Amino acid sequence: MAKYDNSFTDELRQRLSLVDVISRRVPLTKKGQNYWGCCPFHNEKTPSFSVSEEKGFYHCFGCGEHGDIISFTMKSENVDFKTAITELAEMAGLKLPEIKQKSQQQIEQEKTYIDITEQAAKIYQDLLYSESGREALEYIKKRGFSDEMIKKYRLGYAPKNNIISSKFSNIKIDKLTATGLVRIGEYGPYDFFRHKLMFPIFNAHGQIVAFSGRSLDGSEPKYINTSDTELFHKRQTIFGFNFARDFIHRQNRSIIVEGQIDAIQMQVHGFPETVAPLGTALTEDHIAILCKSNRNITFCFDGDNAGQKAAMRACLLVLPFLRDNSDVKFAFVSGGKDPDEILKNHGTSAMQKIIDDAVPLIDFLWQSVNKNYLTQTPSGRTQAEKFLKESISKIKDKIFQNEIEQEYNQRKFNQWHKWSRKTNTINIEVPNIVDMSTKILKSIVQTYPELSEKYIEFLSSLNISFDEDVEKTDLSLTDAENYIKKLSLKKMLEKLNNERIKFLSDIKNESENEENKNKLKMINDKIQEITNKLKLFNE
Ligand code: CTP
Ligand code: MN
Repeated sequence: MAKYDNSFTDELRQRLSLVDVISRRVPLTKKGQNYWGCCPFHNEKTPSFSVSEEKGFYHCFGCGEHGDIISFTMKSENVDFKTAITELAEMAGLKLPEIKQKSQQQIEQEKTYIDITEQAAKIYQDLLYSESGREALEYIKKRGFSDEMIKKYRLGYAPKNNIISSKFSNIKIDKLTATGLVRIGEYGPYDFFRHKLMFPIFNAHGQIVAFSGRSLDGSEPKYINTSDTELFHKRQTIFGFNFARDFIHRQNRSIIVEGQIDAIQMQVHGFPETVAPLGTALTEDHIAILCKSNRNITFCFDGDNAGQKAAMRACLLVLPFLRDNSDVKFAFVSGGKDPDEILKNHGTSAMQKIIDDAVPLIDFLWQSVNKNYLTQTPSGRTQAEKFLKESISKIKDKIFQNEIEQEYNQRKFNQWHKWSRKTNTINIEVPNIVDMSTKILKSIVQTYPELSEKYIEFLSSLNISFDEDVEKTDLSLTDAENYIKKLSLKKMLEKLNNERIKFLSDIKNESENEENKNKLKMINDKIQEITNKLKLFNE
């Protein structure tokens, strides 16, 4: 019989969640590690049908029915293998491959490929401990790598000269270029990796399929990776997964960090369940693979702005896979750039604290929305609502989706509207904007929502509630904008004057001090500058 090659059925099993597929027909609930429901293959009222996502098998303790995602589809829909595969491929968004046996030639080719990358890794490993690799070795030792770690992760050094293209001269050139290690230039073959610290990239079976090379002289880009080849697909490869897989099952959790050095340092410092995407971008494939192993994922992003952005990206990617609120969490590194730095400077317990403080995805999404939209204005709330709605609609599990919707509705009611009530009272205590201007501002915000977005920072610093129906303003857009500008200059001036008074009283006794004089001059200059700007408005 014609056969789909194993790699395709493997990919299906990898891409699709058994629990998702079975849930379409059988309601399942999680108990311990497994999911349980009433067996679709015999008649029963109490659940004895168990599904293990981790193992990819279902088993019925009542009737003994047993199988995987493909046999489930065949049996429950009473279809043949080919129909089941076609249906599953569609579900996974994969194209059905041509039915063909892997040719002998293909098998040979893959074998040669792995042989070459394996031998190359050995060459790089030896070179790291040779004279030419001294700088690289010193560098990686400084980054806290022991000989043992170097050996386990098989780090190496690619020298400045073309070592691979010359050492493998007995191998046909197209085989070498197929590995991505050698390229052909104007003057013949040359090595892709030169003068790099080399990190092998392993497939799930622990075979080396590609490399990531870090520059050693500060040159950009900092990392280069093997381009995609027959055996290496960057979007589907997760760095460190071959080492982490067993631990992910055992610890019932995975941690995802941004960089490969971070992943290694985490793995050896008490977090063996840590992995990293390859390159900077996390893909849907990465998430699908991880969700298959275990859905308790903690994303651990750098504490900077880029980290926040990456977290939001990950959040949107992972939403379709969510099944309950504790599944996916977000941790942010503070007190250092990345996990590597935290471990080096503050140790495992500091890192543990960061992981423990991770917030569930649902809270992360809520917090981000409240940070990114001006939820005290009607237009800000509308946008926030739209964004939340769109996000929630990505969740495939309908029951959970519904639950989240209700949860957010409650939060909207309690927090957005309470916030307005609370700030109404603060409003009375804010002396620097008189009632009159507050009212005008409110009308402006209602009439010209675009202005509220543009001056969001200033408007939210006023701590007044814009959540109230007021009459529209008669001002034109330009006048309205000028009004806001003027008001914000006035506020600034007020702040500066207060600062000046405080400063003068602080330095009473040492006003002759050169540094103080300079600071005072700075404040005075700034006051002058703003006063001048204000004058322009009055003319
Ligand atoms: N990366 C990449 N190409 C780049 C920069 C980064 O593929 N030009 C990937 C690497 O896998 C890297 C990860 O993105 O590990 C995170 O990048 P970054 O935070 O900049 O680097 P670090 O991991 O902190 O690298 P290092 O600690 O070696 O400086
Ligand atoms: Mn780093």
